[in-house]
Order: sequence, then C-alpha cells, then structure tokens
Amino acid sequence: MLSARSQSDSVLSLFSGAGGFSYGFASAGLPPICGAEIDKDACATYEENIGSTCHNVDLSAVEPSFFRDVLGPKELFAVIGGPPCQGFSTAGARDAQDPRNRLIFNYLRIVAEARPRWFIFENVEGLLTSDHGTAVFSLVRAFLGLGYSVRIHKTNLAAYGVPQTRKRVLIIGNRLGVDFSLPSEMYSYDSGKSKKRSSKPFAPTLDQALDGLGVAARSRSATVPYSAAEAVNSFDQLMRVDNNSGGVTEHFHSTDTKDEERCALLKPGQTMKDLPEEYWHDSFKRRAFRRVMDGTPSEKRGGAPSGIKRLHGDLQSLTITGAAPREFIHPHEHRPLTIRECARIQTFPDQYRFHGNAASVTQQIGNAVPPLAAAAIARHLQALDGAFGSDIQPPSHRLEPRLLGFVLTEATGMSEALQKTELMLNSLLQQELDLA
Ligand SMILES: C[S@@+](CC[C@H](N)C(=O)[O-])C[C@H]1O[C@@H](n2cnc3c(N)ncnc32)[C@H](O)[C@@H]1O
Repeated sequence: MLSARSQSDSVLSLFSGAGGFSYGFASAGLPPICGAEIDKDACATYEENIGSTCHNVDLSAVEPSFFRDVLGPKELFAVIGGPPCQGFSTAGARDAQDPRNRLIFNYLRIVAEARPRWFIFENVEGLLTSDHGTAVFSLVRAFLGLGYSVRIHKTNLAAYGVPQTRKRVLIIGNRLGVDFSLPSEMYSYDSGKSKKRSSKPFAPTLDQALDGLGVAARSRSATVPYSAAEAVNSFDQLMRVDNNSGGVTEHFHSTDTKDEERCALLKPGQTMKDLPEEYWHDSFKRRAFRRVMDGTPSEKRGGAPSGIKRLHGDLQSLTITGAAPREFIHPHEHRPLTIRECARIQTFPDQYRFHGNAASVTQQIGNAVPPLAAAAIARHLQALDGAFGSDIQPPSHRLEPRLLGFVLTEATGMSEALQKTELMLNSLLQQELDLA
C-alpha cells in the first residue's frame, strides 16, 4: 500500500484506531509513515490495511521525542488524528474531568515536537461545549501559540459523499502563514435527523450503500458472495475495489425469532418506543422508566434510549457508532445491520480486514473517520500546500498565527452552551495574541 514518499509529504497518524483517517490519506497518495494507538486489535487492523507500522503505545505516556526518534530528520506534511471522544460525546456521559479528555493536549504536545506544516484534528461535536468551552478554547489558543493559523469547522461528513450523516468538528491549522478554506461540500443529505437539502447531488443513500451485498450469513466465519458478479451501482463499485474474493467477510447476524418479530413491526424511522410494551427489551424498559435523582425522567434530559430503530433506505443512515449493529435495523430486512454493512456506511472498502472479536471490530468501525471524507480533506490540503507545487501562490506576506475563523453550527439558533464557546473564540479572533 505504501508508495514512495518524498521528504515533504510525510504524514504521522495519531490515535490511529482502525485506520479510517489514515486510509483516506493513503488513498489520496499520502500514506502515513506510521500510526500510534493503544489498542492492540486496532493496531493490527491498521497495519494490515495501511501497510506501515502502528506503534502500540499509550500516547498519554510517551515522550514527545519518541516521534522525533521514529521520524528522524523528515519534515512532516501533516499530523492527523482524532483523540478519543468518549468524554465529550453527547452520546455518553460528559465529564470534563475524564482523563481521556486530556488526550487532546497529548496530541498538541506531539504537534509541538513534530512541527508538521499542517495538522488535522477530528473530534465529536461535544468537544465544542466541553468544560463550558474552555477545552476547545485552550486547545486552539495553544495551537496559535505554536505558530499555527487555525480554522474550526463543524461539518457533516455526508457532504463529502458518505452515506451517513455524521457531524464532526475539524480543527485544521498550518504554520505556512496562509489562510485556507475547507474542501467544498459536494453533496446534499438527509437522514431524517440531520438534513441539508440543496441542488447538489444527494449523497449515496443507505440502500445504495448496501446494494450489491449478498444475503447476510448466520456465522461470522463465512465469506458471503456478492448478490451479482458485477457492481450494481457506483458506490458498490467503489466498495468492491481491489476485492478479488467475490464476496465479503463480517456480513452475518444472529437475530432470534423474537427479535425478528420486533423488527418486523418497525417501519422506517420508528424506534423501540413505537412498539407495544410487550416487545420492549428489558434493558430498554429499565432505562426508559429510570428516573434520575432529582426526579426528571431521563427522556426529558435528552438521554432517553431509543433502543432499536429502523433506518430509511432512501435517505442516508444515521451516525454509525460502536452501538450501530445493536441498534440500527436494516431498512428492509428484519435484523440489525451487520458489521460489514456498518463498515460500508463508514466507507471502508470491502477488502478492509478487521482484527479482534466482533465487539472490538464494531467499536473500531464506529470510531473511525470515514475514509472517503478523509480522502477529500487530504486532496484539498495537498492542493493547498505549496510543497506539492500547488495551486496557491506563496503568500506575499505571511499571516501572523491567528484564528482564521470558525463555524460552530449550521443551525440558525445556537444553544446557550455553544454561545459561551462562541464568545470565547471571538476573543481569540479579535485579539492580537501575546505569543511570548
Ligand atoms: C476516535 S478513535 C480514532 C479513530 C481513527 N481516527 C480512525 O479513523 O479509524 C480514538 C482512538 O484512540 C485510541 N486511544 C485511546 N486512548 C489512547 C491512548 N492513551 N494512547 C493511544 N491511543 C489511544 C483508541 O483506542 C481509539 O482507537
């Protein structure tokens, strides 16, 4: 997979996971020189598919000079990575004291040491309001202090052709002293939950993403042949690239009769809540009726579980997380999504091999940056970066490192929490930083 690299186009991947971010960069001609990741299964997945070493290390404990030794004198084009997001995720308990939140500053320390021309930092939207906005404020301020010009952009990755709405925060910076934009959005999208309808082509739908796969097996060991010898649509064709096996792995389910009955009752868009109570899972009943200490039902706190939900085939999927194969029901069949279906919705090609048990693989897939979106970002930054003989002119005068701009939401209104963050970031926009 690795192609010859010049000194100027080296990429370092941190918190590499299964390698979604890295695979996207590799497919744009920028394969990471190495990855770094604490989870052994994820490291093995990375190494098999990306083809470079994944250092199995705890990035909160390694000395930043570790990478200087690994990289030698090479100048880095970019550091890419998405530190863990559990502490920030609106899907989980949000805890500013969660030690995993500090990993964002470990990322920063390594950028400070490695001095790439660009860094691309990806995270969940919860980062923006974590710790009343101080997490993102402190992080960005520190990047500015290192000499980077920075943009923050909350974006929906469906706009880059991913068959799923997936809101993520991108913080991108360069130390070239140039202003830059994010890659242009190419697609409109609608998952029922998030939408941006426009004259742009509609991103591949869930049906289009799953078409071409054969009937899901009942055992994990099976390789399931494609439904037809030839790709049935352009997304299917993209997924089949380099897969000479005539079928896919990880395409299995173990739905029992009761679950099939449940699923059969669900129409697209409906959730466990829409079923008669006798069909509710015990865990769903417990969580649905549980009241928190002050008596507020968890429903009212926005934390109520929706349990299983059937997806719409003619729209994009909802966000794939580590829970997707438990919660998301196939748009037409009476079973949850298979692991391979989740991988496709995340735009991992069918030849991508995952290591670990089913739970580990599901998590690796849910954690990933969809390679298709990562590739769009990689190509865009590559074109912007002067070292590649790019289409930007060297700046007549270099910008002082500054916050170039931010987009915190695409909605018209803003939550109170986000307004606080906006206020803090505005102070960075206006302020000539004392970088001493
Ligand atoms: C959001 S995932 C990254 C996914 C990856 N960007 C991709 O596209 O596949 C975060 C990763 O950080 C890893 N991680 C968590 N704590 C870590 C630590 N202390 N050191 C190194 N990696 C860590 C997790 O195992 C997880 O794979």
